Amino acid sequence: MDTIRLYRSTIGKKAVMAVTGAVLFLYVVVHMLGNLLIFTGPGALDAYGKFLRDVNVVWPTRFGLLIAVALHFVAAYQLTAKARKARGRYEHRRPVQGSYAARTMRWGGVIIGLFVVYHLLDLTVGVANPHGVHGEIHANVVADFQHWYVVLVYTVAVVALGFHLRHGVWSATRTLGVVTSRTIGLAVAVVICAGFLSVPFAVFTGLVS
Ligand code: HEM
Repeated sequence: MDTIRLYRSTIGKKAVMAVTGAVLFLYVVVHMLGNLLIFTGPGALDAYGKFLRDVNVVWPTRFGLLIAVALHFVAAYQLTAKARKARGRYEHRRPVQGSYAARTMRWGGVIIGLFVVYHLLDLTVGVANPHGVHGEIHANVVADFQHWYVVLVYTVAVVALGFHLRHGVWSATRTLGVVTSRTIGLAVAVVICAGFLSVPFAVFTGLVS
């Protein structure tokens, strides 16, 4: 009962956003570090992928991610609806647009969501990949980033993720009372963007083949 009452409150929903955001962030960090294995040699990514499948972490991770994404989305939607309803009373005084940060988060979230659907069809299922062979991760990645438009799609999505993380990390660390929260948010966003984007740009420029 108490849990339900807490979830109904704004603070409860914000806690859900923070916890699920932290879970998704952890996944993003591990994924980004895993991708960097491409710089250690042609077989490294394929071996890493095989290892993850062999130790059976793929499906539990997918299941956990699905729950985290669903809760993150529902809590965000409900918080927006709540804020809109509360502001509605003062409609004549203030446009119901939300702050710059709130709008960036919303649209950033939509871009990331659409990207993940394409990304799964591209590199997990393989139907949107020029090579598209299951388990041949290195070859699939290299086939992708020969094309400037694929590099562009990934760049837009990763930059959107950077903005999303900058605000999310800032907001979470500020709540915890960290005084340098703004700098931390920016630093995290820059590191994550640079880490992810190094792969498409290394392939596109021929550094990795
Ligand atoms: C340049 C950037 C990226 C590269 C090169 C990349 C690469 C990959 C590859 C190769 C796979 C498939 C692994 C396999 O064979 O199973 C994959 C899966 C995945 N990636 Fe990425 N990724 C990138 C960015 C991202 C971003 C920004 C996100 C999240 C916002 C993301 C989320 C995922 C998810 C959820 C999966 C599915 C994992 C599964 O099969 O369960 N990726 N990525």
